[in-house]
Amino acid sequence: MIVLANRAEIIVMTSVNLAIVGLGRGFMLTLPALRDNPAVRLRAAFSLRTEPREHFAKQFDAIACDSFESLLALDEIDAVYIATPHEIHAEQTIAAVRAGKHVLVEKPMAIGLKDCMAMEAAAQEAGKIIIVGPSHGFDAPIQKAAELVASGEFGAFRMITTFNFTDFMYRPRRPEELDTSRGGGVVYSQAAHQIDLVRRIAGLPVSSIRATAANWDPKRPSEGAYSALMTFEGGAWATMTYSGYAHYDVDELVGWISELGFDKDPQAYGAARRRLANMSPEDEIAAKVSRTYGPGSESDSPPRAPHHEHFGYLLVSCDKADLKVTPTEITVYGNSERQVIDIPPPRLPRVEVIDEFVGAITGEITPVHNGRWGVDTMACCEALLESSRTGEEISPGAIINNLSF
Ligand SMILES: NC(=O)c1ccc[n+]([C@@H]2O[C@H](COP(=O)([O-])OP(=O)(O)OC[C@H]3O[C@@H](n4cnc5c(N)ncnc54)[C@H](O)[C@@H]3O)[C@@H](O)[C@H]2O)c1
Repeated sequence: MIVLANRAEIIVMTSVNLAIVGLGRGFMLTLPALRDNPAVRLRAAFSLRTEPREHFAKQFDAIACDSFESLLALDEIDAVYIATPHEIHAEQTIAAVRAGKHVLVEKPMAIGLKDCMAMEAAAQEAGKIIIVGPSHGFDAPIQKAAELVASGEFGAFRMITTFNFTDFMYRPRRPEELDTSRGGGVVYSQAAHQIDLVRRIAGLPVSSIRATAANWDPKRPSEGAYSALMTFEGGAWATMTYSGYAHYDVDELVGWISELGFDKDPQAYGAARRRLANMSPEDEIAAKVSRTYGPGSESDSPPRAPHHEHFGYLLVSCDKADLKVTPTEITVYGNSERQVIDIPPPRLPRVEVIDEFVGAITGEITPVHNGRWGVDTMACCEALLESSRTGEEISPGAIINNLSF
């Protein structure tokens, strides 16, 4: 038994023996939080490339597996973190829960609602937990905003306005990241974050989505931008805009803090497009690999982000106040005065995800971002794409119901 002292309370936990599948960029971003949690033991890993898995085995005194099946066959493993490309999340999650493992699966949960529902059904049948994350719905400022809205202190919740302008489409990508049928584009990769954080703050079932998504750059052939109007049961709504083609950088509106919580140099303008302009397709794949885990990568001593992560500009409107949510604070614009609620700096980024995963496994908490949560977020992503295709307002619940029968 391990006694974990966190900020608010003392929790008694058993340890979790964890295996990793996929040692890429997503894993790199989560690794500091995994190392930080004393209940987590990193015991085994599998990825397609040999070098990263051997590095992992050396770094954590763990087992380098040479297949996914051999990893699942390890009796000592309680849980698996699936950080592989979107299109294999479903098959690997279903196999893992059937092998008796709990699963943390990267966002997006999969690339189709049918697959997400099959993952959730398999987990239910096996009595195992699925957590879908990290997403920015876990970020501490978002959780604080959700608490404030739920408290009713500022009156009825009415509306969320959020937008994000990034160079997502011009970062180094694998070919499938630019192919919608294989989960590419910003709806699967980025709307999954925006929908999660909006749903977390609203705390209400989604009634409908009306959206437009488009591909503006034939050289990067997948949806790179969208705008969506989401309505909730009871009449509140959210507007969400994302551009992965942006020349403007939304970080300017949140104190020049980057999405990952680092201070950003405003002079580094246009860096992603400049780098990409000189790359061949082979160079681009090599550049993608260079941002992943392995010998010589920054995973050995990762830089520490001083601020919380964020996902762009975010304003929450209630009857008695508007709440502006940033990586450092929430400013409450009330009827006659303005107050600032400081958000304590992060222990490390993404610790909330690992705390929720471990807490769910040990039974200490009821997780928010479970398999059913992931199914609902994916139904919203699909409603967004369908609305864009048909020009109609789409109910995510109706898409789920149509698949259930
Ligand atoms: N939450 C976040 O902020 C965040 C950030 C980056 C990536 N991600 C997610 O992580 C997932 C992976 O993306 P990435 O950018 O890390 O990709 P990546 O290409 O950097 O890494 C993918 C890893 O999976 C391995 N892999 C590929 N096919 C495999 C297979 N069949 N079996 C086992 N391993 C396999 C590769 O060897 C590599 O180690 C995606 O779903 C992505 O959305 C999430």
